[in-house]
Amino acid sequence: MAPTKQQILDGLAAISAPDGSPLPKTGTLSDIVVSDGKVFFSITVDAATVKAWEPIRKKVEDTVRAMPGVASVMVALTAEKRGGGGKPAAPAQGHGHDHGPGAHARGGGPAGVPGVKAIIAVASGKGGVGKSTTAINLALGLRDLGLKVGVLDADIYGPSLPKLLAIKEKPETLGGTRLKPISRFGLTVMSIGFLIEEETPMIWRGPMVMSAITQMLREVEWGELDVMVVDMPPGTGDAQLTMAQQVPLAGSVIVSTPQDLALIDARRGIAMFNRVNVPVLGIVENMSFFQCPHCGERSDIFGHGGARKEAERLKVPFLGEVPLDMAIRETSDSGLPVVATQPDGPHAKIYREIAAKVRDQLQGAGQTRAAPKIVIEA
Ligand SMILES: Nc1ncnc2c1ncn2[C@@H]1O[C@H](COP(=O)(O)OP(=O)(O)OP(=O)(O)O)[C@@H](O)[C@H]1O
Ligand SMILES: [Mg+2]
Repeated sequence: MAPTKQQILDGLAAISAPDGSPLPKTGTLSDIVVSDGKVFFSITVDAATVKAWEPIRKKVEDTVRAMPGVASVMVALTAEKRGGGGKPAAPAQGHGHDHGPGAHARGGGPAGVPGVKAIIAVASGKGGVGKSTTAINLALGLRDLGLKVGVLDADIYGPSLPKLLAIKEKPETLGGTRLKPISRFGLTVMSIGFLIEEETPMIWRGPMVMSAITQMLREVEWGELDVMVVDMPPGTGDAQLTMAQQVPLAGSVIVSTPQDLALIDARRGIAMFNRVNVPVLGIVENMSFFQCPHCGERSDIFGHGGARKEAERLKVPFLGEVPLDMAIRETSDSGLPVVATQPDGPHAKIYREIAAKVRDQLQGAGQTRAAPKIVIEA
């Protein structure tokens, strides 16, 4: 029988951090994943102390490996640069610390991607709200504004770019090490779906997130881009928080449907980005209302307007309303996104307006270099 999380923690109590305190008490350990005798977790430490931690990481691995019932173990050391005070974040334990002003993309955070001017995340607190559809059409809207745009599908739990853009081929490798992104509708695109085998069990995807995302940012020939749009995994758990922390984000766009429940999740998403000092560029209300294709009558199926009110309440920009419409669903599901294939239609116009607001917010965020500080209890 594999050990429980608690048994592993008890075992690790005998190991000391560089400052002498027992490891489980240092707040550096992520959640411990135990699956079929495989154990995975990470230790998040200040980048300046990584050298001192490496032998400890090894000792941790050896200790866990020696426990009865453990088939394999992988302990990752995640370096994090600190801004102003505060402990290094231990995402899994759910207490977000303020990393001080200037942390993240605006200072001590992850390094940018050469040639890419701004990276923005499209995120949602919950799945199925139309995040990927919004991401791709927003990217096309930005393209229509004359920008050079890339899309990185980082949704490790359900990569959707291959479907949204009907991509069947795998990216080619350049010189054996670098990947050549795929080109569609004038967008430069890459999907995490190309790097992770479909059979990879869900439980392993979270831990793999960081290496896969680093690879996608650093080992892909993105070329010169004005904006890279990242389709994030839905939710606000460890994988999402780690990603929000490690990708050099200039801002985030939150997608929500108008229902109260979705809005609660959207609020969590905003809180997550605040925690890592990434400006929230605004909220998009998707499936905002339904217009009957036959009689033209409009119905507010999910109670339209909730996201706008929520945005006002949280003092976050409201970016626009996208109706629930068959044309959006059909184009999205057949690899022919509506902004690319019906550029003169009403939906393309809405997405272009959203794109213009995102661009303006991005410029504003670039000038002030700080998110409006909103304190939200998630
Ligand atoms: N405005 C819309 N009108 C009609 N259908 C929509 C709209 N937005 C999204 N859809 C459809 O809803 C479904 C879910 O959308 P999408 O895949 O973009 O959501 P998601 O939030 O990325 O989901 P997941 O969490 O699974 O990644 C898709 O079939 C898509 O075509
Ligand atoms: Mg999706």
